[in-house]
Amino acid sequence: MTQDELKALVGQAALQYVVPGEVVGVGTGSTVNKFIEALATVKDRLPGAVSSSEASTQRLRALGIRVFDANEVGELSVYIDGADEIDGRGHMVKGGGAALTREKIVAAQSRRFVCIADESKRVEVLGRFPVPVEVIPMASARITRQFAAIGGTARARLKDGAPLLTDNGQHLLDVSGLAIADPMAFETEVNQWPGVVTVGVFAHQKAAVCLLGTSGGVRTLT
Ligand code: A5P
Repeated sequence: MTQDELKALVGQAALQYVVPGEVVGVGTGSTVNKFIEALATVKDRLPGAVSSSEASTQRLRALGIRVFDANEVGELSVYIDGADEIDGRGHMVKGGGAALTREKIVAAQSRRFVCIADESKRVEVLGRFPVPVEVIPMASARITRQFAAIGGTARARLKDGAPLLTDNGQHLLDVSGLAIADPMAFETEVNQWPGVVTVGVFAHQKAAVCLLGTSGGVRTLT
């Protein structure tokens, strides 16, 4: 099976976690795009979704799925999203699609995080994928030095030669060279650094379930 087929497989499988009659939290990325396509087939049974990015909002609306503001609804029963890396305990690196801040917000608003990913995302230790960190622009040089002090190399994410602007109008650093043995401690520490908006390690908002697409079918990791 191709990677695209594996993404479609887990996108479809995630439908079993969507609660009829309830608003669902929707992440961002190519795997979630498959989930959104699957979700459109059951849209008549749902009030709609809370979205984690402008990109997902556009896709949801294009398929006739209503998008609610996060402040209009209460706690969500489930949030479905992809990951750039996931370890055996459900800790993830996320933000390859630049949507980490809103992803973390919607995940925090949800009782259960269901991660959908192809098997290439499963790792033993987080950090081989450069960790995205959304920052306030005036703090980026200092935060870059703080990462250097713990062995990380931070590079500004660019788009058309200029710093990429997130949906929140901020900048992104991608930090390579880290082996994150304790994701909870790492997330807690980096969250304290002035100017950090969001660190793309999801340990406090980890996945309760991971639907992993493999050549043998969908593996459910809990
Ligand atoms: C978006 O900002 C990310 O957190 C995505 O969830 C992550 O990058 C996975 O994306 P793909 O499904 O495209 O691999």
